[in-house]
Amino acid sequence: MSADRYAVVGNPIAHSKSPSIHAQFAAATGEPVEYDRLLAPLDGFVEHVQAFRAAGGRGLNVTVPFKLEAHALAHRLSPRAAAAGAVNTLRFDEDGIFGDNTDGFGLVRDIEVNLGVAFKGARVLLLGAGGAARGVVLPMLERHPLEITIVNRTAQKAHALIEQFEGAAREFGCLINGGGPQAVDAKPYDIIVNATAGSLDAALPECDARAFGAGTLAYDMMYGAEPTVFMRHAESLGARAADGLGMLVEQAAESFFVWRGVRPDGAPVLAALRAQLAAQV
Ligand code: ATR
Repeated sequence: MSADRYAVVGNPIAHSKSPSIHAQFAAATGEPVEYDRLLAPLDGFVEHVQAFRAAGGRGLNVTVPFKLEAHALAHRLSPRAAAAGAVNTLRFDEDGIFGDNTDGFGLVRDIEVNLGVAFKGARVLLLGAGGAARGVVLPMLERHPLEITIVNRTAQKAHALIEQFEGAAREFGCLINGGGPQAVDAKPYDIIVNATAGSLDAALPECDARAFGAGTLAYDMMYGAEPTVFMRHAESLGARAADGLGMLVEQAAESFFVWRGVRPDGAPVLAALRAQLAAQV
C-alpha cells in the first residue's frame, strides 16, 4: 500500500522539525503517512499548494509566513481557525480545502496534559496581542478559566482582541479584560503565557513582577536549546517555567488527528526532541 502524502510548507523551511515529528507519529500509529518539507517562494504559496494537491497530496501544515494566505485559501474553516484568523493545517477533501488551526489546542494540551496544570478556574495572563496570541484565546476559553487578562505593549491591540472574544468569554463563563502593561494585576496568576515575539530577539515584555509567584506556570511559546530570557526571568521570581517545544509537538499531534482521525501520543516524541535539543548545548 502506498503512503498518503503530507508536508509542511513555509519559507524558510529547512529547519522544521515537523517531518521528524510526523514520521514518529506515523511509526507509532501505523498510519501510512509520508511527510515532506515544501519550500514555497514568498509570492508562490497558492501555486505550490495547488500543485501539491493536484499531485495527490492529502494535507499540509502551514508555517511562517503563509498562515494568513492559507486562511484565505481554505473553502471551509474550523471555528478555531476562524477565530484565530490564521490556518496552520490544510486538509484536501473531495469537496474542497478544509482549514484548521491546531496551535492553540497544542498549547492548551501541553499545559494541561504534559505539564499537569488545569485551565479550569485558573487566572490566566496572556502577554501579546499579535497572531500567536489571537490563535490561543478560543482554545483557552473552551477549558473554562476564571479570567483571561490580555496585555500588550500596544494597548489598542489588546482591546481589539478582548472585543473579539467577549461573546465567547461570556458563553464560557470567563471574565476577559486587559489593555496595556499597567493592566497586569499585582498578584500572582496561575498561568502566564508569553505570546509576544520578544524571546526571538531576547526582549522581555513589560510585566509587573508581582504577577509571578510560586504557584505560577510561566509558559513561553518560544523554545530553544537553552531556557528563554522570559523563562529565566520567571524562574528568578519563583515561578515554574516551560518553553513551547511541547506546544510544537501537540499542535502536530492534533494536525495528525485532523487528517487521519487517529490521535498520536505526544509525550514520547516530546521527550525525544527534548533529548536532541539538550545534546546541542
Ligand atoms: P506573532 O504572529 O508572533 O504574534 P505579531 O502578530 O507580529 O507576531 O505580534 C507580535 C507580538 O509581540 C505583538 O503583541 C507585539 O507587541 P505590539 O503589538 O506592541 O507590537 C509583541 N512584541 C514584539 N516585540 C516586543 C517587545 N520587545 N516587547 C513587548 N512586546 C513585543
